[in-house]
Amino acid sequence: MAGAKLLLLCVCGGFSAYYFYSTESVTPEMVRGKRVLVTGSSTGIGEQIAYHFAQMGARVMLTARRAERLREVAEKCLELGAGSAHYVVSDMGNLTSAQNVAQETRNTLGGLDYLVLNHVGGSGSFGTFQGDMDSVLSSLTVNFLSYVQLTSGALSALRESQGGIVIMSSLSGRIGAPFTATYSASKFALEGFYSSLRREFSLQKTNISVTVAVLGYIDTENAVKKVGDKVSMLASPKQACAREVVRAAVLRQAELFYPFWGIKPLVLLRDWAPGLVGKILDTFYILENIV
Ligand SMILES: NC(=O)c1ccc[n+]([C@@H]2O[C@H](COP(=O)([O-])OP(=O)(O)OC[C@H]3O[C@@H](n4cnc5c(N)ncnc54)[C@H](OP(=O)(O)O)[C@@H]3O)[C@@H](O)[C@H]2O)c1
Repeated sequence: MAGAKLLLLCVCGGFSAYYFYSTESVTPEMVRGKRVLVTGSSTGIGEQIAYHFAQMGARVMLTARRAERLREVAEKCLELGAGSAHYVVSDMGNLTSAQNVAQETRNTLGGLDYLVLNHVGGSGSFGTFQGDMDSVLSSLTVNFLSYVQLTSGALSALRESQGGIVIMSSLSGRIGAPFTATYSASKFALEGFYSSLRREFSLQKTNISVTVAVLGYIDTENAVKKVGDKVSMLASPKQACAREVVRAAVLRQAELFYPFWGIKPLVLLRDWAPGLVGKILDTFYILENIV
């Protein structure tokens, strides 16, 4: 009986917490003047995250490899109301270059409130794993090691500001997905590293939030180009996705699932019925289009 009451209490508590988080809103006052670094912000979700922060008056630092695109995004951030908008060109396949981005951000913005780690790249493509170790190394360097490098470069500034780190993960970082072995590995590595870091911060009373965004299929140009004809799945809008990521970051949530009902039930079922989850996910792949 006591056990049942406890269970009921936990379930009610869980739903109340979910309701509280899902209705709490973010106001521009909470963001104005905050210093934000968004990686992979020349296009896709990162570009949209930069616009959402800009609209609320944040000071943004953008980074990716294409200078011209970054210049255009920075200009649009200023039009939208950013307190300032700068960019630094960097290839995250080079860890020294990633280290320089953290340094340049601190010098330009005089500190950092949000580190949004979003870029994705490397030479891996969507398809059968062919044993190509160069592509494994390249994917892990760009999609995992550079995240850690940027975090270590930004840590003292984040300690000072009591800021937040945001990590872009994926359903493939919670459930192994076929045809993306190296990508999936890098997302699992991120999830392990940053959930460990979050516990460490909590135990040591370090006030830095760690938000992991677990995303489904989002309609960015690159994602649709890469998998559009290989999976039969509806893509969710990148603008709404970016808005939810910014909201979760500002509210210092530990996790965000987007789209919630497309991701969360599968993650919950994963350990109880892995075979069923695998069968459900398998139905989305168009095998004749995958090599
Ligand atoms: N879209 C989805 O369906 C989806 C699903 C789950 C998770 N996610 C995650 O969400 C995040 C954003 O995805 P997205 O679809 O918006 O990606 P995207 O449109 O492909 O954009 C990737 C960004 O990363 C930059 N980039 C690529 N290689 C780089 C490198 N070597 N060095 C520095 N920057 C590099 C790109 O800019 P340059 O080319 O200018 O360098 C671009 O700004 C990623 O972490 C991804 O894993 C996306």
